Amino acid sequence: MTGELTALPDIEPSRLEVIDNPSPRPTPSSSSLVFGKVFTDHMLTIPWTEANGWDAPKIVPYGPLSLEPSCTVLHYAQTLFEGMKAYRNDAGKVTLFRPDMNMKRMVTSAKRIALPTFNGDALLELIKILIRKDKHWIPKDPGHSLYVRPTLIGTQRAIGVGPPNEALLFVICSPVGPYYPQGFKPVALYGTTEYIRAAPGGTGGYKLGANYAPGVVPQKEAAEKGYVQNLWLHGPEHYLTEVGTMNMFIAFKTADGQTELVTPPLDGMILPGVTRDSVLRLARDKIAGLPKDLIVNERPVTMNEVKEASLDGRLVELFGAGTAAVISPVDRIGYLGEDILIPTGPDGMGPISRVIWKELIGRQTGSIPSDWSVTVAES
Ligand SMILES: Cc1ncc(COP(=O)(O)O)c(C=O)c1O
Repeated sequence: MTGELTALPDIEPSRLEVIDNPSPRPTPSSSSLVFGKVFTDHMLTIPWTEANGWDAPKIVPYGPLSLEPSCTVLHYAQTLFEGMKAYRNDAGKVTLFRPDMNMKRMVTSAKRIALPTFNGDALLELIKILIRKDKHWIPKDPGHSLYVRPTLIGTQRAIGVGPPNEALLFVICSPVGPYYPQGFKPVALYGTTEYIRAAPGGTGGYKLGANYAPGVVPQKEAAEKGYVQNLWLHGPEHYLTEVGTMNMFIAFKTADGQTELVTPPLDGMILPGVTRDSVLRLARDKIAGLPKDLIVNERPVTMNEVKEASLDGRLVELFGAGTAAVISPVDRIGYLGEDILIPTGPDGMGPISRVIWKELIGRQTGSIPSDWSVTVAES
């Protein structure tokens, strides 16, 4: 023993082992795709142990994992995930949209629940290799993409709450179609006062599996009342926080006639969405088509403010923003027994979301050049 500290191995792409799927499946037709139901031929797995750090990454045939029933993930929800999309254009070029943000958020989530951290650039390099391997699974049709789901779970084989001494990172991929195949359909939200999604000091700002299961019953109850998603409210003032599993934006006409685009601030209860950040950046850059006098604010908004703006005719639009749907317009909020109506244009969108959606889709698919689009394969 010389006493020096030796760092354990990080994720190392040069150690990658690839085992080809001996029975590759035919890819499904684009029209048959249902979100998240079909997976490609391969997956990436990288085990970690406290004693030896990150083991060699493997690309293997997609299939079941072998876990002991005592594994901590199965008892204490030691799991976190990411969601990102790969696009393939007509020339066959494959791109990801701002994947560095997903990698950073994944590491932040891992720290929050004492799962091992890793070099996000190294994981991204491996994800690109996985996508290249299964790139024929990416539908080319408009609005289609490959949904990429990196996940990290605690796999310590012992019942007991604590940092796990074993973990498994895996990445699976699913070809997906557009969220709104028939064009934009505004959704009705249920302003939820009976349940909360997140609380100050809690985990709402992290992409942890534990944040999602408790939202299923509120979502079912909202559906029974005739609404599509929960509008998650916070505190006695009923601050608006998120919409279902999306960030939210609201646009007001101000008293002096300007347009203000608002989203709740990242106060620990809001997931720092990649789409949220992109909408903010495009709005602040005042891309062509947006009102010249647009003001962009990250600030708290209460249901009272929304209700008053609706009654005064100052509500311009409200929409959700996230990777799956990109932009999801809202036309109604059920709140304390009444419906607050929100304007939408004839195509289902509002004046700000329409402009931002077009730019976002263009940058995601590569039809609008941008450094947000990261090349995975040239053809
Ligand atoms: C709770 C929640 N909020 C917001 C988002 C949007 O984040 P992103 O734009 O990174 O997809 C997601 C993920 O889709 C989410 O699960």
